[in-house]
Amino acid sequence: MTHGGPVLRATTDVGRPRIIVVDDDEDVCRAIGRFLRARSFHVATECSGAEVLARLREEKFDLMLCDVRMPEMSGIEVLTHALQIDSQLAVLMLTAVDDAATATEALSQGAFDYLVKPVALDTLERAVERALHRRRLEIDRANVEWIIREEAAQRTEELERERRNLRAMSVGVADALINAMEAKDAYLLGHSRRVAELAASVAEALGLHVDQVEDVRLAGRLHDVGKIGIREEVLNKPGALTPDEFEHVKTHVDIGMLILAPLKHMPVVLQYVLDHHEHYDGSGYPRAIAGDQITIGGKILAACDAFDALTSRRAFREALEPRATIEHLESHVGQLLDPLVFSALKRVVLRRKTLTFLDDELSLGNSAR
Ligand SMILES: [Fe+2]
Repeated sequence: MTHGGPVLRATTDVGRPRIIVVDDDEDVCRAIGRFLRARSFHVATECSGAEVLARLREEKFDLMLCDVRMPEMSGIEVLTHALQIDSQLAVLMLTAVDDAATATEALSQGAFDYLVKPVALDTLERAVERALHRRRLEIDRANVEWIIREEAAQRTEELERERRNLRAMSVGVADALINAMEAKDAYLLGHSRRVAELAASVAEALGLHVDQVEDVRLAGRLHDVGKIGIREEVLNKPGALTPDEFEHVKTHVDIGMLILAPLKHMPVVLQYVLDHHEHYDGSGYPRAIAGDQITIGGKILAACDAFDALTSRRAFREALEPRATIEHLESHVGQLLDPLVFSALKRVVLRRKTLTFLDDELSLGNSAR
């Protein structure tokens, strides 16, 4: 067991069951004590509620036989306090005939049973055995419930650990793929990492849940992995692409989904990757979906992808300054870009929040920045 919890008590007591009798009538205490000892029980007796409660704080008993009517502290009060001291204590009430109503009330307070005085000895013995048996069952049940809860907690912890490991492994594999892909084009170097960090900042600025922010970050790392399947002369081509070449470039989304298919434990991340070339007005690809049909992660990636492409130097053009890029992108709000996502991107860029995420090497590689 990994958690601290109740120390499991033996369901069968080692040695004799321990019984404590409390009655202000010493003759009753003595007679019951003698009888139960002869039946091999360990028996202690006390003459008042205060004394029995003090004893229960010091010693462990299995069962208490408790008189209902006692001076100073009633049997009901003793019962309540005794169960607070030891919730596993079995309690039998001893009652005179005219205390029966009170004894019934004691049952609702947690007593197992009540016996009417004078008690026939065989009745007493049966009641004690019955109460001890029921107490063992209740302890067994509590122990089983505790074990089940512990195991469930442990299993949940293990699953969470496995989930984290799997994710870390996936990120490792993704890193290797992305590095291989970016190595094909000097101008792409660091693109995925920058998009990932910028996208995570935008997701945070939009107030997304921390798990969603991490999904967006990972999707940012993975979004262009399919470009590993795009011909180098097309990927590195300076200037505009022919329609056929553009169709070829568009396949990188489907290729990416094929590569990432084994990561089915991260369906949200995959969905974000799938949507990263969708446009707000439905003019994007591969599914040409629009507005809220596009996942929030897809919209964020589309905005950050465009921002990073414009602020990076390419073979065929120089890089734009971040502020000028934002002004340029503003004219695409409602077409390429979701208005809310754009305004979050604008806030992030203007506060230059993402700079803290850029490592020196990447910044140097992107010399025009
Ligand atoms: Fe892409």
